Amino acid sequence: MEYTLLRLMHIGTVYVTLVLFVLRGFWMLLDSPKLQQRWVRILPHVNDTLLLIAAIGLVVVAELNPLQQPWILAKIIGLLAYIGLGTVALKRGRTKPIRVMAFIAALVVFAYIVAVAVTKQVVPGLF
Ligand code: HEM
Repeated sequence: MEYTLLRLMHIGTVYVTLVLFVLRGFWMLLDSPKLQQRWVRILPHVNDTLLLIAAIGLVVVAELNPLQQPWILAKIIGLLAYIGLGTVALKRGRTKPIRVMAFIAALVVFAYIVAVAVTKQVVPGLF
C-alpha cells in the first residue's frame, strides 16, 4: 500500500520533472525571459524534492540497500549527473552551444535513468 502510493508519487513527479525541464529547455533555446518567471524558478525544485522524497521512501519501505542493488546506485549517480547537466543547461552554461550540449546530455541521462528504473539493470539490455 505505502509502496504503491510512493511509487505513484515517484512516477508522477518523474513525468512533471521531464515536462518542466523540456519547457525550460525550449525557453533557454529561445532566450526567452519566461525562464526567469517566479513560478518557473520555484516549482521545479518543489517537484524534484518530492521526487527524491518518494525515491528515498521507496528504498526505505522496500528495504533496498543501494550497495547490494547496483541499479539503485546507478540511479542516484544518474540523478546527480542530471542535476549537474541541468544547471549548466539552464543557468551556468556560459555560451549557447555549451547550454544546448548540456541540455541534450541531460535528456540522454534522463532516458538512461528511466531505462535503469524499468529494467533494474545498470546497463539496460546488456545483462
Ligand atoms: C530523475 C531521476 C529518476 C527517474 C527519472 C526515475 C524514474 C523511475 C521510473 C520511471 C520508475 C518506475 C519503473 C517501473 O516500474 O516501470 C521508478 C521506480 C523506482 N525508482 Fe526511480 N527515478 C529517478 C530517481 C530515483 C532515485 C534517485 C532512486 C533511489 C534513491 C529511485 C528509486 C526507485 C525505486 C526504488 C523504484 C521502484 C521500482 C519498482 O518497484 O518497480 N529513483 N523510477
